[in-house]
Amino acid sequence: MRKVYIETYGCQMNEYDTEIVKTILKQNNYDLTEQPEEAQILFLNTCSVRENAHQKVYQRINTLKQLRKKEKKRVMGVLGCMAQNLRDELLDEKVGVDLVAGPDSYKKLPAMLESVVQDDARQYALSLSEYETYSDIFPVREEGVNSWIAVMRGCDNFCTFCVVPYTRGRERSRDPLNVVDEVKRLTDQGFKQITLLGQNVNSYQYGTSDFADLINEVSKVDGIERIRFTSPHPKDFPQKLIETVANNPKACRHIHLPLQAGNTRILDMMNRTYTKEDFLHLVDYMKERIPDLALTTDIIVGFPTETESEYQDTLDVIRTVEFDSAFMFKYSERKQTIASRKYPDDVSEEEKTSRITRLVELQRNISLKRNQQHIGKVFSVLIEGKAKKDGQLMGRNDGNKIVVFADTGQKIGEFINIKITTASTNTLIGEVV
Ligand code: 5AD
Ligand code: SF4
Repeated sequence: MRKVYIETYGCQMNEYDTEIVKTILKQNNYDLTEQPEEAQILFLNTCSVRENAHQKVYQRINTLKQLRKKEKKRVMGVLGCMAQNLRDELLDEKVGVDLVAGPDSYKKLPAMLESVVQDDARQYALSLSEYETYSDIFPVREEGVNSWIAVMRGCDNFCTFCVVPYTRGRERSRDPLNVVDEVKRLTDQGFKQITLLGQNVNSYQYGTSDFADLINEVSKVDGIERIRFTSPHPKDFPQKLIETVANNPKACRHIHLPLQAGNTRILDMMNRTYTKEDFLHLVDYMKERIPDLALTTDIIVGFPTETESEYQDTLDVIRTVEFDSAFMFKYSERKQTIASRKYPDDVSEEEKTSRITRLVELQRNISLKRNQQHIGKVFSVLIEGKAKKDGQLMGRNDGNKIVVFADTGQKIGEFINIKITTASTNTLIGEVV
């Protein structure tokens, strides 16, 4: 009973957590496999942020159950946010899950697996910790140029639509010395870029060290060339952090700044703690201090009671800011959240679809326009790998845009100067200079 297969859904934090789980299991003499057929233990590391994430996992459980029919001894486990959120539902005999473990319980997995096998009893571990940061675990990582590193976990913001504060618990940050140590080990492995991760990454605080201090400490590590971070909250952008992005040459000039909605009444109902005007002022200040800044965002349409004219405020902010790109979602009511308790999900599906369609169209045009403004410019591109088309390589510029160019034998992990010749909505195309 030793081979484990893990599938990951959702955000980068979950990808990172999967690496942690793999490391813990390896330390306990389990083998990993990429093939579910070969595995005796099947894990799904799940996401709860929107309803369709749940549906995907239920479908996948059903498919994987077919494998179990062939070999009865297989163990099926659900990890991550959905485990935390839906324990009772998942442990229902009909679902057929043997083990459920939330994001702060992964160190218990080896013991839980033993119990499932020996005692033939379902296992669950779901207590949320105020301290667990897995800082003593150095996760096994796939080779590459970018490595993710979780520097804080949890979220205390309680945006009313969001389930994360319930599935991942309270905010806690890692000791900066421990983060720097991990970054050094990553550079030894050849990683040139790191992305600092957290549900609310810029509220990082350890003793007197804030997030700007952390970026500056990490940037002192030789071999790290680029530092990115995700996902921040607009409320935690003091001048010091903006100046760090502006002045630290290793900090990428890209900020993901989730707007969520452009109307102040809706923002208030969402508990975002800023107004439309606050957001616009923050963006103006960032653009002034950081020339060539790339800005991206997250938007939710159809939050309860949002009217057409309030939705128009979101479009207005989108037109004013001109984000480079955006992740756009229809509001999806989540169990446990404040919104689900206080506000009926009263915008019709049809209306949500209409709003998201118009938003996506607007953003596509803006992304294209922003990309076309780069034609003729030269960017330093960190090469990540082969592009989709044969004979081409792809990498990213400092602003996180994908840049594609002809493969003439350049090496992955190298920097190369590329002059942009063509632009589409999602990609810049150029030639080596
Ligand atoms: N419905 C729709 N989108 C959501 N997000 C978070 N919760 C919900 C929800 N209930 C979006 C937010 C967040 C991103 C990660 O997912 O835009 O920034
Ligand atoms: Fe969710 Fe808001 Fe926390 Fe982001 S900041 S994880 S949207 S509660």
